[in-house]
Amino acid sequence: MSDHAVDESTIFETPLVEVDLGLRSDATVYAKVEWFNLYAAPHGGGSVKSRIAKGMLDGAEARGDLEPGDTVIEPTSGNTGSEIARLASARGYDVEIVMPDNAAGGKVEAVRDAGAEIHFVDADLGYDAVIERAEELIAADPDAYYRPNQYENPDNPGTHERTTAREIHEATDGKVTHFVAGVGTGGTITGTGRGLTELTDGGAAIVGFEPDEPLHAIDGLKYLKTGDHYHPDTYDESVLDRREYVSTGDAYDRARALRDRYQDEAIPIADPGQHDAETVREHLRVGGQFVVGTSAGAGAAAVAALDEAGDLADDDVVVFMLCDRGDKYADIPLWEEYL
Ligand SMILES: Cc1ncc(COP(=O)(O)O)c(C=O)c1O
Repeated sequence: MSDHAVDESTIFETPLVEVDLGLRSDATVYAKVEWFNLYAAPHGGGSVKSRIAKGMLDGAEARGDLEPGDTVIEPTSGNTGSEIARLASARGYDVEIVMPDNAAGGKVEAVRDAGAEIHFVDADLGYDAVIERAEELIAADPDAYYRPNQYENPDNPGTHERTTAREIHEATDGKVTHFVAGVGTGGTITGTGRGLTELTDGGAAIVGFEPDEPLHAIDGLKYLKTGDHYHPDTYDESVLDRREYVSTGDAYDRARALRDRYQDEAIPIADPGQHDAETVREHLRVGGQFVVGTSAGAGAAAVAALDEAGDLADDDVVVFMLCDRGDKYADIPLWEEYL
């Protein structure tokens, strides 16, 4: 059980800020700042995964799949683990998280801090070994465990369809023309894409991005492009209008460019969501710097790729996700020299 209070009321209704990515077109670019989910939590706050952790646990409790005394178990390399650990522990469940032993230090600390048990798996064995280890644990005592399973659970895309899509539609007064998100489980792009397609009557282009090579360092994005072509059930490619491929180098460069651009200048807050503007300003920076996680940098790179291809008009309104804050990656080369 966690010693830390977890305020689930801070999940959803995250702020939208207007960022200048130095594009050729005059398109307006908004970033949705997902670390305002559980923003007061230690180790970099929450992330885009706070949404689905809540959605999946709420769904399981409502269906009676998750009951008092159960142990919640999830194989995950990061944010989903820390968010499930925080929420499920605070709700009184025991939690076990299976992680590769090279997971970002900030994510491991968040899981540990939530009071969850961690099963580390040798990262050299690949991510399948992480999932297999969780399946072995469950098979040994099937009645004890509930596995949310972010790769198959319809509440993953479903939560985004109900919340993220509506929030973006409302915060842009229905003017959003492009939604850009990375593909990990595919829950964000599939659910938000479905919701926005319906709310805008097809008026918003749904753009999913993936790393351009199998061995990359963009945390949160599984590799779907070639090779084994892993397509989780939570990913529905038919929702997408377009795919972009982003290099790790571009993702890191764009993340650093965002930090440099807003080092001395405040970021305009387009919509504070459920927070007041003062709280948003206060929690946008860490150590005085606007640092974002790697997939946020990749999102900025994907938006820039659309612009460079000449596909953004001056009156377009683009929304991409800042999935998490950069300080949980303090032990990787992206930010170690700054934090
Ligand atoms: C930091 C980060 N960015 C992006 C994603 C991708 O989101 P989704 O799994 O909804 O496709 C994840 C998911 O793990 C993540 O942790």
